[in-house]
Amino acid sequence: MTEPETVPPEKPTARQARAEHKALAAEIAAANDAYFREDQPILDDATYDAKRRRLVALEEVYPALKGAEAVSEAVGAKPSSKFAKIRHRVPMLSLGNAFADEEVAEFVQRVRSFLGMKPEVAGPAFTAEPKIDGLSLSLRYEKGALVHAATRGDGEEGEDVTPNARTISEIPHHLSGAEVPEIAEVRGEVYLGHADFAGINERQREKGLSEFANPRNAAAGSLRQLDVSITAARPLRFFAYAWGEMPVLPAQTQSGVVETFKRWGFLTNPLMARCESVDELLARYRLIEAQRATLGYDIDGVVYKVDDLALQARLGFVSRAPRWAIAHKFPAELATTILENIEIQVGRTGALSPVARLKPVTVGGVVVTNATLHNEDYIRGFDSKGETIRESDIRIGDTVTVKRAGDVIPRVEAVDLSKRAADSQPYVFPTVCPICHSDAVREHNPRSGKEDAVRRCTGGLICPAQAMERLKHFVSRDALDIDGLGDKQIEFFHADPDLPVKEPAEIFTLATRDGTNLKKLKDKEGFGTQSVAKLFAAIEDRRTPPLNRFIFGLGIRHIGETNARLLARHYGSFEALRSAVVASADAASPERQELDAIDGVGPTVVEALMQFFAEAHNEEMLERLLAQVTPQPLEAVASISPVAGKIVVFTGALEQMTRDEAKAMAERLGAKVAGSVSSKTDLLVAGPGAGSKLKDAAKHGVQVIDEAGWFDLVGT
Ligand code: IVH
Repeated sequence: MTEPETVPPEKPTARQARAEHKALAAEIAAANDAYFREDQPILDDATYDAKRRRLVALEEVYPALKGAEAVSEAVGAKPSSKFAKIRHRVPMLSLGNAFADEEVAEFVQRVRSFLGMKPEVAGPAFTAEPKIDGLSLSLRYEKGALVHAATRGDGEEGEDVTPNARTISEIPHHLSGAEVPEIAEVRGEVYLGHADFAGINERQREKGLSEFANPRNAAAGSLRQLDVSITAARPLRFFAYAWGEMPVLPAQTQSGVVETFKRWGFLTNPLMARCESVDELLARYRLIEAQRATLGYDIDGVVYKVDDLALQARLGFVSRAPRWAIAHKFPAELATTILENIEIQVGRTGALSPVARLKPVTVGGVVVTNATLHNEDYIRGFDSKGETIRESDIRIGDTVTVKRAGDVIPRVEAVDLSKRAADSQPYVFPTVCPICHSDAVREHNPRSGKEDAVRRCTGGLICPAQAMERLKHFVSRDALDIDGLGDKQIEFFHADPDLPVKEPAEIFTLATRDGTNLKKLKDKEGFGTQSVAKLFAAIEDRRTPPLNRFIFGLGIRHIGETNARLLARHYGSFEALRSAVVASADAASPERQELDAIDGVGPTVVEALMQFFAEAHNEEMLERLLAQVTPQPLEAVASISPVAGKIVVFTGALEQMTRDEAKAMAERLGAKVAGSVSSKTDLLVAGPGAGSKLKDAAKHGVQVIDEAGWFDLVGT
């Protein structure tokens, strides 16, 4: 067959398309494997691209061809079973530390005396660069091609993460430039930016998985994945700053080699500079420290390295660290102050969060007046597993240590018991919501069977604090995204006596309540005729939100963007979702089985959905809201497909697809797949060997087709 770039004019039949699609998918998967895992491309780029385009074109004509794990959308290759070990030919060492300026001067003096430099001779020159807080990686290139990527491990032996490293866009598969060496091991740091770290944790939360404590852990967890597609989905980054085996060095200085790395296609840190004296080193340190908060990624110090490689060779190593380098660490960002009060904030899901009000104190150059106390257990001195993390509890009036790490929210870390007043009392965590006075309870996690660390207000929408936070969420960027209606405006409207907005529906009645002449709003602080008109137009514009955004905007617990999209795709309409969840209260119902079976929707999500719809306030709120807005199905596909909204049962042997594939295909096309035939069933797809279900179908008058009939039905 020639390689057509688009679907040819004579449209293939559904069956032809399926056969061709299957063959193409297999070829592309093999090519992905070869490229990502082996780096032995079996297709040239143009052919690969043409095949992918053809695949996508077929899927456009026959959406049913898109598999759950569509090759057209897959990145990277399948997981390997375990990490192999790789011995570093040149060990990966660590660095000595300096904390005070004097220790830097001592380091420079040690270098000078080791090299026997006379007092009147200046130098040597050093490089100074940020110490990236990630994990180090050694990349081996042979004849310019990446052959191995290994983690540091114990310094002698690391883990083979080659397929993972190949998914990092900032790691070249091939070195560029005219003079590519035979062998070059480039080393550097894999790390995650703050925004990407937040995104990853958000998705972890949505999936009910535990969150990463910091960007470094998240980077390590993302790189060391047996399933390479997980690594590929995480936006890992890489700075090159060192090397291992490199028989022919491309320069005679540290800075020169790093410059060469840039020409080879790596990113190097732009803050690296060459310094001629201790004063210059310290000046660079201050400059980097000043930029720390705005870099967008974590650094924990500045590394100084002797620039001249001949001098580095003379200096050599002492135990496991080079004599020619040192890490000048940033001071822990700690400060001591008085805990003046503990206030409880109530969040969108009712979580009661204790906030420490502090006597203002400077921590790492920033004035801090509030810090988190996490939860009730943390105040008492225990972590989420119930382990003791502090010798004492935290009390109002205590002298406390506050820590600010990177740009995360400061937290109260420790208590100075010697300064505690004799009459101080343990803090009593409220068991009622401070805003609406409903009970505040600690739920039992159905999965772990343990008590949740978070105490939650049970008031739901009755609670003004929850209601306001939910409103903010409803209009937020990833939900309804109403221009000109941010947190500030929601707070304003929520409290406004003339035009109160207490629930989502009331956003959409603002304009009519205000009257056509904008009489109430336009004279208020911050609103002019024009801005009010603009706001009303933006609100009007959102009366037909995409279903996934609408579901996400409701702020149901555990329903983040991903789950909202899954549900929107699966059910097609809000009504379908609602009735399915309501019916799911009966654990034996087909609706419940269907809900449980949705890939990616776990028991926590199912529980949260059922709770939400079981709550009368929510139903009432929804009724009012749905009188104002009409959510739009996510994909038109579902509604135009002949099986959209139909209940389908598969039985017997299927030849062209697995049962899972069949189910996924039907669901993507908007059908519901049931396990047994009842009077509600619309269609039975029966392969050879079908038994009792055929009889049931006959009994209930259900249409029966075979697998070929199914393809003809959904393919055209
Ligand atoms: S140089 C032989 N430069 O710090 C010395 N290390 O404490 C090779 N690190 O394992 C390391 N940023 O993971 C060097 N700009 C930088 C660095 C850096 C971060 C890490 C690296 C190393 C650890 C040593």
